[in-house]
Amino acid sequence: MLKDFRGVPVSTASRDAVALYETALAEFQHYSGDPIATIERALAIDPDFVMGHLFKAFVLYTTSEQRYLPAVRDAVKRAASLRKYATTREQRLTLAAERLAAGDWLSACEVFDEVLIEHPCDALSIQIAHLMDFYRGDAVNLRNRVARALRAWRSDMPGYSCVLGMQAFGLEECHEYAEAERLARRALEIDPADGWSVHAVAHVMEMQGRIDEGVEWLRGREADWAKPDNGFAPHNWWHLALFHLDRGEHAAVLEIVDQRILGPQADMLLVLVDATAMLWRLRLEGVDIGDRFERVADIWQGKLDVERGHYAFNDLHAMLSFAACGRGHAIERLLAQMREAAVGTTSLNAMMTSEVGLPLAEGMLAFARGQHAQAITRIARVRDQAHRFGGSNAQRDLLSLTLIEAAIRSRDLSRAEHYLAERVRLKPTEWSWRLATRIASARVQVAL
Ligand SMILES: [Fe+2]
Repeated sequence: MLKDFRGVPVSTASRDAVALYETALAEFQHYSGDPIATIERALAIDPDFVMGHLFKAFVLYTTSEQRYLPAVRDAVKRAASLRKYATTREQRLTLAAERLAAGDWLSACEVFDEVLIEHPCDALSIQIAHLMDFYRGDAVNLRNRVARALRAWRSDMPGYSCVLGMQAFGLEECHEYAEAERLARRALEIDPADGWSVHAVAHVMEMQGRIDEGVEWLRGREADWAKPDNGFAPHNWWHLALFHLDRGEHAAVLEIVDQRILGPQADMLLVLVDATAMLWRLRLEGVDIGDRFERVADIWQGKLDVERGHYAFNDLHAMLSFAACGRGHAIERLLAQMREAAVGTTSLNAMMTSEVGLPLAEGMLAFARGQHAQAITRIARVRDQAHRFGGSNAQRDLLSLTLIEAAIRSRDLSRAEHYLAERVRLKPTEWSWRLATRIASARVQVAL
């Protein structure tokens, strides 16, 4: 039986198919090229290549986009039809893919863990489980699952640096910043083009309030992470925009939004989410963003017929755009859709929607409508549990910023100081000082 380049058995007799699988895997690890087109070439050589079908299903599923679900289901069905020829690992991965396609993300991750006990060098399983841990907001396993697998890796194995990068990001989400940065820098010594490791360091700098270093870090490595065919580059651009926004450099932020995020790239939901969140932050800062939110809301409206009810984190961002633009009909429709998605037992999204997405959608909507007391109640109640619907600590900072802003706008200044205090401890940056200054001047106005 053939093995992949890390010694994991695969049920194909075609060395060419395995080689193409490895090419597709390297593309996926770097978010570059077109891994689906590459794996299709492998499947053209061996139509019964189980890992080829599973690779396709997993990569498409981790886009977080429901439009790919029919193709995911087809690929899973094809893998399932080959079960009797498949290795035990491939049979388990087929089960994981079936569970993902059914929306049962937690149970799918349990299967990945079973696979990694026997095959810790299964690079695809590590990465898919890592991404699903991210979508599930499971910071502990973003760190620990990779740590469990890393025991068997050697530094000369293909993709080792990418696994280090995943370990670094998991450490960062668990607030272990020094070790996260050390591992990510080590990964980049091996492979400077690993955008996920570049990103892990950007997160460390964001969380530690090292804003100037963050700008320098990303600008200095642009040639490595910002290649035109890199699907992850828009998110690293988003991080760069976030650093600039902290420094109050709005023109630089808008330039990045216009040229790197809110273009054709925003057809991908992961990028559209970033565009939405950045515009929301700009509005909190009182920046004139022209008609950009209208454009973003148009894109969301065009997508929701297909995408609604798949992932609460995405639905919330659609709501941000509708709320910002005051699109009453779209708001009511999305709220009804989220209430519908909140019902159910097998889909993890039902829990994410009922416990996090829907209350936050109502809270952010209340904020946009100037109903600040209601916004505060709803956001504050959910905010500390909001990791349960995924995203990173940096992304969810949006909730704290909105909460503080709602308190300032409603002249609830002690509450604004209350929440700002925790942010200052975490990020003593210009953004926090701007908020402190606004609270102080509001106090003076109240006193007058
Ligand atoms: Fe990020």
